[in-house]
Amino acid sequence: MSRLIIEGNHRLNGTVSINGAKNSALPVLAATLLARGTSEIHNCPLLSDVAASVRILRYLGCTVSRSGSCVTVDSLGLCRSDIPDTLMREMRSSIVFLGAIAARTGEAHMSFPGGCELGTRPIDLHLSALRQLGMEIIEERGRLECKVNGRLKGTTIALSFPSVGATENILLASVTAEGTTSILNAAREPEIIDLCKYLSRCGARISGAGESAVTVEGVDTLYGCSHAVMPDRIETVTYMAAAAITGGSLVLKSVNPEHIATVLPAFEEAGCNIISSDGEISIVSPKRLHRIRSVRTMPYPGFPTDAQAPTMAMVTVADGTSVFIENIFESRYKHAGELMRLGARIKTEGRVAVVEGVPRLSGAQVDCTDLRGGAALVIAGLAADGITEVTQIHHIDRGYEKLEQNLCGLGAAIKRVE
Ligand code: EPZ
Repeated sequence: MSRLIIEGNHRLNGTVSINGAKNSALPVLAATLLARGTSEIHNCPLLSDVAASVRILRYLGCTVSRSGSCVTVDSLGLCRSDIPDTLMREMRSSIVFLGAIAARTGEAHMSFPGGCELGTRPIDLHLSALRQLGMEIIEERGRLECKVNGRLKGTTIALSFPSVGATENILLASVTAEGTTSILNAAREPEIIDLCKYLSRCGARISGAGESAVTVEGVDTLYGCSHAVMPDRIETVTYMAAAAITGGSLVLKSVNPEHIATVLPAFEEAGCNIISSDGEISIVSPKRLHRIRSVRTMPYPGFPTDAQAPTMAMVTVADGTSVFIENIFESRYKHAGELMRLGARIKTEGRVAVVEGVPRLSGAQVDCTDLRGGAALVIAGLAADGITEVTQIHHIDRGYEKLEQNLCGLGAAIKRVE
């Protein structure tokens, strides 16, 4: 298994260009199934989760090719409606294919995505919404056997929680359904807006994208189109935290500062000087960070849960005590134990984590527990005395393209050892 060897205490300085967003590319790639003909998805990041989605599209019969950051999908050859267990297990967010496969072929067969490091990751909201659209779903022996008699029928769906994945599945199932679908308490994340932009370019009729109430007028056919994936807002925060913990300064390009408007004040409270203009953010960090009084993760536009671990890493060496409240996932502090191996002082109790800043971290061997937790360990390793060895980095490769190369380009000393 490959691992990262980090020599700490190198200040980061320079410029980094942010890649396309994983959490937009994945639902957009699933959506290409709905479009007859060819779609060109530009700014598509080189990630293992994206590669897993491409494998699913190819298994289903699509022709998929990649040239640089552009993934081209021709769905004409679509001839299957099932996702093999191996592919489902490889990426639990493959559940986002359910609505698209069933809407396009009239059926869908896949295993339950199962849980992950963040908790049980239920899909009850997905299934109840798709049933309301007329999908017959049999759940047995860990599998989902889905069937559509005729055509899905639009209806009003009120989500008890603004689930990102459930909103995406409803959108993918309803854009070619009969009649109108209204989604109440829809997720408002920028990735939802990006998915709706792609679908609208294909001919879908969606209003209210990014708001809590979204209306979809079903159309008969969607046609392939070109789309550029939005910048990755979590990757943006990750690089900012990496600069901040090293006392460095960074210019981040190809970003959308609006997408992290509720994160920037936390970095400013930590003592960072941030200037954001269209498409760019510059951050200058203090020699020693201050604590962040409290970070509460919330659905968008609140503080993103995916930014919790990178921000926690950053404040492990801040002056004072920071408090985190994780309101989205039931168990998203697995990285705390590994940060403590580096000398961090963290106390977690249910959804609350209290981080008492320490003067220094010291390098150690640590294991990635999940994607954003792994990024947090790299961030902490950048500021730890001596050598930090980060293992299980396949978690990181799911959501960060060329992380160590980019960090080395900014002055970090990191090498990947196979
Ligand atoms: C998406 O996951 C993202 N993944 C996650 O990013 C992100 O953390 C999450 O949204 C929240 O923003 C992708 O887009 C591929 P949810 P998703 O449905 O759709 C509960 C990363 O690091 N819930 O909004 O799974 C669920 O258990 C990943 O890039 C139900 O109870 O998130 C969780 O507590 C991690 N029933 C909460 O809602 C359901 O049917 C939020 O889940 C669905 C969700």
